Formats: sequence, structure tokens, C-alpha cells
Amino acid sequence: AVAAAAAGRFDLARTLSQMLHIPKVLVVEGDSDEEPWVIDQLGLQAGQYLQTILREGDIVAVTGGTTVAALARNMVVRQSYRNLQVVPARGGVGETVEYQANTIASTLAEKLGGTSMMLHVPDRLSPGAVDQLLTDPYVQERLPIIRASTVVVHGIGDAMAMARRRQVSAEELAHLQARGAKAEAFGYYFDQDGEVAYSMKTIGLRLSDIRHVREVLAVAGGKRKANAIAAAAKAYRIDALVTDEGAAKRLVQID
Ligand code: G3H
Repeated sequence: AVAAAAAGRFDLARTLSQMLHIPKVLVVEGDSDEEPWVIDQLGLQAGQYLQTILREGDIVAVTGGTTVAALARNMVVRQSYRNLQVVPARGGVGETVEYQANTIASTLAEKLGGTSMMLHVPDRLSPGAVDQLLTDPYVQERLPIIRASTVVVHGIGDAMAMARRRQVSAEELAHLQARGAKAEAFGYYFDQDGEVAYSMKTIGLRLSDIRHVREVLAVAGGKRKANAIAAAAKAYRIDALVTDEGAAKRLVQID
């Protein structure tokens, strides 16, 4: 039965890889929406996969969220790096400290033996303040490093769930709904065709930077994220996806 289940997940992964145009797909057992331990499995598998692609000299950008936090928490390190930097993909985007990209970057760097660089830029700034910050030496020193990342590890959220979690205004929520936002990843909201429905004015990695990244790894599971994963896969290049059966089975139905 165990072998059959594993074969089932392998088939699901192959189907998803073709359907989403993601070369590498890994499907872990369970549904993280139903069983809390599944997120740790997602994190563990994603952490193992990440180590197969890391190289000395890499700049690894990580996003916030509970799933990427699970990756850092469950990382079993096989090798220590001398010259590796872990950075937050973007400044704070309205998360609890534990799930902020800065916190995750620091945990991951500590485990991998590399260094981390923080970007302490608050969320919810006025556009004018953001423009002003972009001219600040602190930001000008850090932003080019983030934008030169060679590996990106990110979570994908359901757009409405993320908007509510970030306590966006009723006006922003209405805007996202009107634009048909389905997915959220590194501060961008995407509709079901992968078009940008809204982009948060935060400082950090931009969608255009993804083109120069060697490997983009997405970690997202739970059936409630199926639409979001499908939308993100249309929006930008994902090289590897670590997901769970809950999301995978729902995704196959969407097709
Ligand atoms: O941007 C996406 C979210 O950060 C995903 O958060 O892993 O807690 O669902 P999550």
C-alpha cells in the first residue's frame, strides 16, 4: 500500500509537471489544509531539494509565510557553505515576526553556514515614503544584492486569504476581487491567467528579476491553494514546485 501511494504521488507529480510547465514537481503525502504535520513534510522535502541545487556563491532570496518558515525549521543540513548569502526577497509584508522573510533568512543562513542580510523596511508605507527610501543608502546598499539573487525560494498564497491576513483595507480587497486576483507571491497578486492584478509597493525583488535567477523554487500545499498555484505557474517561471496531495489532486481536477 505504501508503494502504491508513492507511485500515485509520482504520477500526480508527472501530470502536474506537464500541466503547469514546471520541470521538477514533488508531491508529499497528505493535505496541509487538513493535517498540520503535512507542512513540515513540505518544508523537509523542499529543504532537501534546495540542497541539491545550491552552490557556493549563491544568493538565496526567501519570502515569508508559514510554508517557507517550515522549510527553514525542518532543514536537515548535509553540507555547510562558506560563501552563501540568504536574503529576504522583499521588505516586511505584514506578517508575524516568525513568518517574516528576514527571520526565515536568518534561520536558514545559520543552518547552511552562510551569512544573512536583513532588509528592515516596514510594510504599509505611503508610495512617497517608499520612493524616498529607495534613495536611502541603507536600501541602496542592500537592494542590488537582493535583486541579484541566484536562487529564489518562495511561498504561494491564495490571494484573498493573503489579503485578509495582511489586513488590507476594504478598498484594496474590493479592488483585488474586481481584478479577479487568485494568487499572491512576493507581494504580487495574479489573476487566473497569470496577469498581475495588483502589486504591493514594497522594496525588494521584482518580477522582472526572476528572469536572471538560476532556480525558482515554489513551496505551497493544501487544496485551498490549488487555484493560486495554477495562476502563479502561468505568471512567471517556476523551476521546481514542492506541493502536497491535497493541492495536487485538486489541481488535476481544474485541468
Ligand atoms: O506569499 C505567499 C504566502 O507568503 C504564503 O504563505 O506559506 O503561510 O501560506 P503561507
